[in-house]
Amino acid sequence: MKLATTTYPVLETIRKRWSPRAFASYPVAPETLHQVFEAASWAASAMNEQPWRYLYAHHADQETFQKMVDCLLPGNQPWAKNAPVLILALAKTHYDNGTPNGAALHDLGLANGNLILEATALGLHGHFMGGFDVAKTREVFQLPENLQPVAFIALGYLGEAEQLEEPFLSREKAPRQRKGVEEIAFHNQLPA
Ligand SMILES: Cc1cc2nc3c(=O)[nH]c(=O)nc-3n(C[C@H](O)[C@H](O)[C@H](O)COP(=O)(O)O)c2cc1C
Repeated sequence: MKLATTTYPVLETIRKRWSPRAFASYPVAPETLHQVFEAASWAASAMNEQPWRYLYAHHADQETFQKMVDCLLPGNQPWAKNAPVLILALAKTHYDNGTPNGAALHDLGLANGNLILEATALGLHGHFMGGFDVAKTREVFQLPENLQPVAFIALGYLGEAEQLEEPFLSREKAPRQRKGVEEIAFHNQLPA
C-alpha cells in the first residue's frame, strides 16, 4: 500500500489509488469489471455525448491480450504482460454529424477517473499507460478514424513488488510525490 500522504483530508479511495506494476495472477471477475465500466459510464460529459469507449481483454483471452501487449512500448511490456486485464481507453473525437468534439479527451479523462476510483474501492489497482504505439494500435484493432486510442490500462489485484525486476522494483517501492495545493490552485490571480 502506498497511501497518499495528504496535507488536507481527501476521500480514502483517492488516498488508496496508486499505479503498481506488480499484479497478482488471479483474474478479475467479469461482474467486477462491469462494475468498473458502469462507474466510468456515469461521468459527466459535454452534451452528454459520453465519448469514452473501452476495449478490454482478460489475460485468458490470449490472442487479444497479446495484441494489446504488442502495442505497448518496451518500457511497459515486461510488467503489463502479467496484468490480469488490459483495457484500451478510446475517445470518440467527433459527433455523429462530423463536428469535432473538443471535450472528448477531457471527458474520457473524467470517465477514466471514475473507472480507477471504482476499481480502487473494489480492491483493484490500475496503471494507465500512454506509452504505446498509436499507429500500430490503430492498425491492429482496425480503429475507425473517429476513435482515438488514448491510453492502455493494466488492471488487477496487487501483487508482490519482488515479482518485478529492476528498474521496476525500485519504482514500485519509491515514495509517491505531489505538487502542493499552493502550486496548482491560485486565489484570485495566477502567478506571473
Ligand atoms: C495518461 C497517463 C499515461 C501514463 N503512461 C504511463 C506509461 O506509459 N508507463 C508507466 O509506467 N506509467 C504511466 N503512467 C503512470 C504515471 O507515471 C503515474 O500515474 C504517476 O507517476 C503518478 O503515480 P501514481 O499513479 O502512483 O500516483 C501514466 C499515467 C497517465 C495518467
